[in-house]
Amino acid sequence: MSKFNDFKNIVNNTRCVRRFKPNTIIKKDELVELIDIARTVSSGKNMQPLKYIAITDDKIKDEVYKPLVWAAHLSNWDQKENEKPSAYILVINNTSIEGFSAIDSGIAMQTIMLGATAKGYAGCILASIDKIAYKQLFKLEDHLEPMFIIALGICNEEIKVVDVKDDTNYYRGKNGTHFVPKRRLSEVLIDEQ
Ligand SMILES: Cc1cc2nc3c(=O)[nH]c(=O)nc-3n(C[C@H](O)[C@H](O)[C@H](O)COP(=O)(O)O)c2cc1C
Repeated sequence: MSKFNDFKNIVNNTRCVRRFKPNTIIKKDELVELIDIARTVSSGKNMQPLKYIAITDDKIKDEVYKPLVWAAHLSNWDQKENEKPSAYILVINNTSIEGFSAIDSGIAMQTIMLGATAKGYAGCILASIDKIAYKQLFKLEDHLEPMFIIALGICNEEIKVVDVKDDTNYYRGKNGTHFVPKRRLSEVLIDEQ
């Protein structure tokens, strides 16, 4: 298979996963490996305002999990105890550096998500976090602002990408399959010729 096909497969298989396999241990070293890649990606003006915390400790994971809001579009969905993530990476903005953290974080987080897929893991980027609680939990200095958390584990759900019909809201099928509508190429490609 060509390198491009490998790349396409990794990108297409990098979905936001919310049901993880139980009893999975992700070592801190593996998270650090992903962070080590993310620290080298493009950054506006190369200012690199982002910092990271790799979270594998059980007690801290419990605290980190508490405020998370999962799958806002699914009214009747809940994550079971044995479906919780195995590890997390907290993404932090160092506000003492005048950079482009909103954009840099997207590039860095997708890189981490792709790396996780390549390692056989899956993840979910979450913006619905409790920034104040995390600041206290990790004793972060004032200039360090939590932005996002990436939940990681081994995927334990079926996810299918479908064309957008009425709206872009993701939904679940009867057997629990998670459907993610994406806009068609013809909708996003402006073909001027
Ligand atoms: C910036 C950002 C913030 C997100 N925040 C949350 C969140 O708080 N909770 C959640 O369950 N999913 C969150 N997601 C996941 C999106 O819902 C998910 O990416 C979207 O449904 C499309 O699915 P896909 O990633 O598989 O393409 C977030 C994704 C991004 C990129």
